[in-house]
Parts: sequence; structure tokens; C-alpha cells
Amino acid sequence: MKRFFICLMVIIALIACNNEKKEPETTSETTDIQKKWWKEAVIYQIYPRSFKDTDGDGVGDLKGIIEKLDYIESLGVNMVWLNPIYSSPNADNGYDISNYREIMDEFGTMEDFDLMLNEMHKRDIKFVMDVVVNHSSDEHRWFQESRKSRDNPYRDYYHWWPAEKGEPNYRYSLFDPKGDAWKYDSITNSYYLHYFSQKQPDLNWENPKVRQEVYDIMKFWAEKGVDGFRLDAFQFVSKDTSFPPLPEGYEKDVIKYYGMGPNLHKYLKELNKEVLSQYDVFAVSEGAGSTFEDAHSLVDADRNELQMAYHFKGMDVGNSLEGYELSEFKEVYTKWDSAFAKEGWLSIFLANHDVPRMVSKFGNDSPEFRAASSKMLNTFILTMRGTPYCYYGDELGMTNIAFDSISQYQDIVAKNGYEKTINEGGDIEQYMTELKFLSRDNGRTPMQWDDSEHAGFTTGTPWLPVNENYQKVNVEAENNDPNSCLNYFRDIVKLRMDNPVLVYGDYELLFTENKNVYAYTRKLNEKKMLILLNFSTENTSIEISEKLKDLKLVINNLSDVELEDSKVTLKPYQALIFSYK
Ligand code: NOJ
Repeated sequence: MKRFFICLMVIIALIACNNEKKEPETTSETTDIQKKWWKEAVIYQIYPRSFKDTDGDGVGDLKGIIEKLDYIESLGVNMVWLNPIYSSPNADNGYDISNYREIMDEFGTMEDFDLMLNEMHKRDIKFVMDVVVNHSSDEHRWFQESRKSRDNPYRDYYHWWPAEKGEPNYRYSLFDPKGDAWKYDSITNSYYLHYFSQKQPDLNWENPKVRQEVYDIMKFWAEKGVDGFRLDAFQFVSKDTSFPPLPEGYEKDVIKYYGMGPNLHKYLKELNKEVLSQYDVFAVSEGAGSTFEDAHSLVDADRNELQMAYHFKGMDVGNSLEGYELSEFKEVYTKWDSAFAKEGWLSIFLANHDVPRMVSKFGNDSPEFRAASSKMLNTFILTMRGTPYCYYGDELGMTNIAFDSISQYQDIVAKNGYEKTINEGGDIEQYMTELKFLSRDNGRTPMQWDDSEHAGFTTGTPWLPVNENYQKVNVEAENNDPNSCLNYFRDIVKLRMDNPVLVYGDYELLFTENKNVYAYTRKLNEKKMLILLNFSTENTSIEISEKLKDLKLVINNLSDVELEDSKVTLKPYQALIFSYK
């Protein structure tokens, strides 16, 4: 069962952009790093279903996002990534697309989209479009045609296996209740492939017509003025279409066996040439292979493929009820930073729509420490090298909802995983306990705007319940509180925006062995900052090598601070940033 969650996590990340044609390169004085606008951005990720509903159907919509653009601007972020907003039957909340050039009815119209984009641009906020093209919906016209007959012109848009050749070699499905990625279709006596759910058939990228369709779709959105693309499950697109047998147990490492297929780089270069290089856009690909080399091969500038890597290794930390050790967390981020110090570019994030809430997973969501630990985690995201991704609601310190009963869950992964556990005679209690902590629904509950009914998210019945802590944890209350998570978030975003050292500066880990404190410096030319983060509930002292009087305290997430000569005593979840004078 753990494997089920691990696979899910694994499917979540890599970004890439490459936009060599448009801007002249500039280089920072002490490093070879090329400066780019998308490296300097702070991205705010919105799960549109859950942000703001304006028509009372209980589902968020584009008009709701437009209504809240002043709020988004007030955060100081300068880019927004929306999960898919295309027409979709919503088997996987928009990750099953039935028309790539239309907006989902529940979300609004193309006019709403155009207005939203225009209003974002007026505020100097850029926009990232989610592109889901490893698979479409089974309700997409291409698939409807494809399944009609073996000689249909769309037949080769998908992967079909004729039944007379015998059963195809087993392929593991990440979302299927039976775990089988081949689905038999009697209309043509053939099986089709779906790495995700049965309603998400995999597109056949080996067919040049499919690739051209994808490039045309991306150009359609680029012409509208979108600034970036997030490529969903992209590392899976190229497949060995002979579908040879795979070693037993390979599903424990699906990225290794499904990712980085034989022609992936060829296709990415083609996509770069056809689309990315023609516009001032970047692309971030979800997932980054299994190794640093894989990730570099996707995003290094001289590859002319993608631009930004969104790797999952950080998300793999703490994916169990046992929690995690800070040493592992430090090690992952330090190794990835050093592997990308000279070339390539990473994303930095602690949450998204596929994982639990950041404060529940990496911090401490008890009433005593929720605010402090959530501010501390935002300090981490906004002071590391790489482009920060801040997930909606994390600026408020929103927490897991932790459902008890399977009937409360909406996510296809939760529901199919439940069925699979039952089918296989697994431990359903254990499954439910893990789900309560790790479910994707934890991170998808409605945005908490105020203390009115349903947290001001909708006048109808929300598609997923609002977390009951909304009366305290909400935008209105936090706006009015100078010490809130929200106002702290604004401060820390501003600090990052004002200090290129936090974007481009070299990173150095300090106090490697300290079990409670994550400490590092960022340095760019003459500018240097020291970041001290207490990840524990214990007061922890550290002795730094400078006199504290020679440093200036620029950020403190708590009301007081204990400094003495060279000794800093950090309270539970305290975050401090010093600037060297
Ligand atoms: C990764 C997305 O982040 C996830 O939400 C989705 O279910 C799968 N890809 C399938 O598209």
C-alpha cells in the first residue's frame, strides 16, 4: 500500500523551460548562472476547484480567481500556476481532458479565461498553464474515434494491443483498482494502455501526428499569452511500443521503468524548437527522472529541451506515518542544490495538489505550533535556490482535513486505492490510517476566506468540505493580525523579491549534524545571508562563527529572540534570517 502512495508522489514533478531565443543572457558577477525572469519568480499554485466559487455550484471558477487577483497581488507573488482548466469529465479533476481548446463548464468560459489572463498581466503576474498530454480523457474525440475500428484514422493516437496476439505484458497502473494498465475493449477486441485511470488512455507519442497536435495546442495557448507550461507526467510520454516484459516488482520504481523513454529527448527538442523557442515562455516538467543526470539532461540550457526541474525527492521525505528525520531532509535539499549549482535550475516546494498540507507533513499542525512551523517552512521555501512554488492556503497555515470515512473522500486515487486494497485482501484499517495523513484531498479543501459559512468559498455546498479550523485560519482574520502567517508570508516574499542573493546566491549548509536546526548561508558577491530554522519542538542553541553584533536580524517568525555574543537560542520552530553587514 505504501507503494501506492510512493508511486503517486513519484508522479508529481519536473519542470523545464528553455527560452534561449528571446532575452539576452545576463550573468551574475560571481557565478556562471544565467539570469532569467522565471528564476526570479515566486509562483502561487491554485487548485481552481477549491479557490473561490462565484456561481454557487460549490466548485471554484475563473471568475472567482479574477475576483481574488488583488489578494494574490497583495501576496507579492508574480506568477500563478493553475491546475488544468480544460473541458473534462473530471474523473481526475481535470487531469483527464476531453477538449484542449475549451474551458471546463464548471470553471467558466474562454471569455473568462481571456479576462483573467489580461487582469493578471495588468498586475505584472505571469501565468503557467498545466499541459496534460501523456494521456487524454477517454471522452476526448480522438479516443472516441480511435476505439471505433482498427483502421480509424485516430487509431494510432493511442496504444492498442490486439487480443489475438495474446495478453499484453503486464503494465502497472498507478490509479487502477486492479492495478492493471491494459483495459480490454470489446469493440475492436483489443486492449488500450492507461498508466493512470481507465478514463485516462495514454496518447501515442511515437505517432508524429499526436506530437503535432500537442504542439498546436501549446501554440494556441502561447498565442493567447500564457507565460509558461507545466508538463504533467511528461517523463512517461515516450514508450517502447513493443511493450517487453519488465522485471518483477518494477512498479516499486515506476519512474525508472516508465520514465525517460527511448525518444523522450528527441521529442523534447522537437517541442522546444516548435513551441518553446518561439515565445517568451518557460516549461517545467513534472518529474525529473531518477537521477541528477536525468534531471540535467532535461533542463540544462545547452540541451534545448525544458527549463526547470520539479523533482520529487524532497516530496519523498516523510511519506509515512513515522514522519521524517531532519538529517534526511537536509541531505536531499543539499545534494540537489549542489548538483544544480552551476547548471540547470530547480523548483522549490513543500506541497501541491497531490500531497498533504505542508504544515501537517513537515511542520506541526497542533494549535500551539501551527503558525510558527508554517511560517518557518515558508521561510525555507523562499530562501532556497530554485524557483519557489507556494501552494494556495499555505500562506495561511491551512492544515490537513484528515477524513475518517472513505465516503468523505472525492479523489479517484483514494477511492480506487480503497477498492484495490479490498480486492487484494489488504489491511484496510492500515490503508485508512495512511490515507488520513497522505490523501490528496487533504490539500484540496476550499480556500478559507473568512469566518462565514463555508469560509466564504461558496454560497452553495462545497464540493469538498471546508476544514473546521476556518473560523480562525482565514484570510480576513489573518489580514487584520500583524503577526499572522499571512502577513509573515508577505514579508518573506518581499524579502526574496528584494534580494537577488536569495535567488542566485551560493548555498552552504552549516551545522550538518544538528538534529533540530537547518542552517545555511546564501552568498552572492558581497551580499550574504544566514538562515536558521528550528524544525523541532525543542529550544536549541547554536554557536555561530561571527559575533552577532556584526549581523543584522532581518526576519524573525516569533515575537522575541535570544541572542548572546555568538550564541543563538532558537525556540520551537523559530526562523531567523540575518544579513551580514
Ligand atoms: C500528476 C498530477 O499532478 C496528478 O494530479 C494527476 O492525477 C496525474 N499527474 C495524472 O495526470
